[in-house]
Amino acid sequence: MTDSVRHTDLPRPSPEGDSLPEGGSHSRLVDAFARTISYLRVSLTDHCNLRCLYCTPKEAGEKLAGAELLTYEEILRVVELAVGLGIRKVRLTGGEPLVRRGVLDFIGRLTAIPGLRDIRLTTNGVLLPDMAAELFRAGIRKLNVSLDTLKPERFREITGADCFERVWTGIRLARKIGFDPVKINVVVLKGVNDDELLDFGRLTLTEPYQVRFIEFMPVGQGTAWSRDRYVSSTDIRERLAALAPLLPSRGGAQEGPASVYRFEGAAGSLGFISPISHQFCDRCNRLRLTAEGRLRSCLLSDEEIDLKAVLRGDGSDTAIEKALLQATLNKPKGHQLAQNGFRNCHGQMSRIGG
Ligand code: GTP
Ligand code: 5AD
Ligand code: SF4
Repeated sequence: MTDSVRHTDLPRPSPEGDSLPEGGSHSRLVDAFARTISYLRVSLTDHCNLRCLYCTPKEAGEKLAGAELLTYEEILRVVELAVGLGIRKVRLTGGEPLVRRGVLDFIGRLTAIPGLRDIRLTTNGVLLPDMAAELFRAGIRKLNVSLDTLKPERFREITGADCFERVWTGIRLARKIGFDPVKINVVVLKGVNDDELLDFGRLTLTEPYQVRFIEFMPVGQGTAWSRDRYVSSTDIRERLAALAPLLPSRGGAQEGPASVYRFEGAAGSLGFISPISHQFCDRCNRLRLTAEGRLRSCLLSDEEIDLKAVLRGDGSDTAIEKALLQATLNKPKGHQLAQNGFRNCHGQMSRIGG
């Protein structure tokens, strides 16, 4: 990982698109480093219909029982109060958010919250063929779908399920129905799927997806994480540039954590998410609500606030707002992975929601 500390080879972004603080001047969620927090990621459940090797512990871990999850009522209450404080964007994640019973009704209620203008979903896509149309009707327009390989057999090896065709059908259906954007998340793993970078790149020539290559992060105990499996965005980008010159999209646009590029004339684009080699913590605008109701200030730091205890204890608006403000103030300046020798965070990815 010798190039993990080179910060010069991807252009520094100009704040644009998703990276602009969205909370507006009235936002009360401003952290100790003057970052405005406007984006809440909510993990609806740690349950999932896949078992990806980078996410699921090899030994099947305990799954949360129903009563341990926040109820939909509790989540709606938190989101409403968070919007009052300055949150403008919510992403539903998991686990697999679409496996939670009643999720469509819940989304319908979420989209009705005044002031919340942007509700997105990250899914593994397995249930999209059945649910894409209803998701659209419920008000979701922007989808991120995890898909780490274009080979059906390899999909089974990575996820433990023979579902490539379902996911691929779901992705195409989502585009057809009108979801825009549809982003495809590819976690790049050396020796597992890094021989498919050009195939994913070629896909964007004719299809309007944004394929995002994500650096493997050490989150969760007992997963396939190892430094030997890590591939840096710089490597990935260099390999893709062999196909055709990569042009910075709209001047090297930064969309959330991704630096976005495209091949000339391509229908789609390529995003590079580089939490390890090019930290984007200085423009982080996120808080996370885990499936068991903990507020997590940073994906890569295990410090959390037990919001469920607040909701089921004092339960007042003031106490919930106080927890949201405290989580904001707790946000570290950046992650400490390199300083900590790239040791895994303890939190499970499926509970945190990525
Ligand atoms: P957009 O709203 O489309 O920009 O999505 P997103 O990238 O914020 O969300 P998504 O759920 O698709 O996450 C893509 C990858 O980025 C996952 O591997 C996440 O774990 C990672 N990611 C998202 N936000 C952060 C962050 O704040 N810090 C770090 N280190 N990784 C993040
Ligand atoms: N490193 C990087 N990305 C990960 N994801 C899950 N686990 C990891 C990891 N260890 C990604 C999934 C999903 C998103 C929410 O997080 O592929 O697209
Ligand atoms: Fe499930 Fe997502 Fe983990 Fe894959 S990465 S096992 S889809 S929670």
